[in-house]
Amino acid sequence: MSFVIKTPADVRPSEITPETVYRSRRQFMHGVGAAGLAASMPAVSLGREWLDSNGFKPAPPSDETITPRGYATSFNNFYEFGTDKNDPAELSNRLTTEPWSVEIAGLVGKPGTYAIEDLMAGVDLEERIYRLRCVEAWSMVIPWIGFPLKTILDRFDPLGSAKYVAFTTLYRPEEMPGQRSYFSSIKYPYVEGLRLDEAYHPLAIIAVGMYGQVLPNQNGAPLRLVVPWKYGFKSIKSIVRIELTETKPPTTWNISASNEYGFYANVNPTVSHPRWSQGSERRLPSSLFNGNRKISTRMYNGYDEVAGLYTGMNLRVNY
Ligand code: MTE
Repeated sequence: MSFVIKTPADVRPSEITPETVYRSRRQFMHGVGAAGLAASMPAVSLGREWLDSNGFKPAPPSDETITPRGYATSFNNFYEFGTDKNDPAELSNRLTTEPWSVEIAGLVGKPGTYAIEDLMAGVDLEERIYRLRCVEAWSMVIPWIGFPLKTILDRFDPLGSAKYVAFTTLYRPEEMPGQRSYFSSIKYPYVEGLRLDEAYHPLAIIAVGMYGQVLPNQNGAPLRLVVPWKYGFKSIKSIVRIELTETKPPTTWNISASNEYGFYANVNPTVSHPRWSQGSERRLPSSLFNGNRKISTRMYNGYDEVAGLYTGMNLRVNY
């Protein structure tokens, strides 16, 4: 299987990743950094051999300033571990990610429960540097490692009647303290969904790593969705179930507050959240000293190539 590395429309050749960053990525890619990688990884099956055998390709140059790794791994939304931004990093170390399997269900020719190693055997990994725009009006730029969602969907032969893809996060209250809370604002397990054509868009990926390493638990180990043109809450973490359906599946934040969070959740600066504007965002890390790094939010988070998915739709109604 081979992949064309898609360059987000707005990344121009002149936008060059700092050379030091780029060099360290190349080292990783060529195995020099692989020993370090193995040492930094938890003892899961997605190890060095797995990454090596999956032909990891680095991202093309981009001069979007990449959010420091330490920030992206310590300022998180993962309510299963608590609602404070630092809760996931502090409380997710007890999460067991090995063994891990994913149930493939619904309108597919090959349903079943697949070990993650089998699910992804032979999948080519690539790096994608994506902006992550949270509905809370902050954003980061993260170098993910993953593969198009389409790749695994195709493996299970979707039936012609399938119109949506539903995703479910692990439900394991004994290891996820937020799921034990009586005061939770959301119901568990966390669920999300995409229309099938959205799921097949080449920008939609399943990530298994970031910053040249396997995903830390707080970022959704061992596999999560990343849909860069939608608000971050669509990018569901620690997936254990993928179901193809004929009808629109329920989604966690929509269940919790349907007037605030829609099914589509496309980044859209012209449609405000009922309690705040979506016209701008704070690029993190930000502080008073750097003017809070306030920038204008772009339609589809700048990923204009997805616009065709929504031709003729009223985006105020389908927010
Ligand atoms: N997935 C699950 N299962 N639980 C969550 O609370 N939070 C979402 C999304 N995926 C969330 C989730 C939200 S609101 C955002 S902004 C992103 O994860 C944050 O991803 P990050 O912590 O890796 O930056």
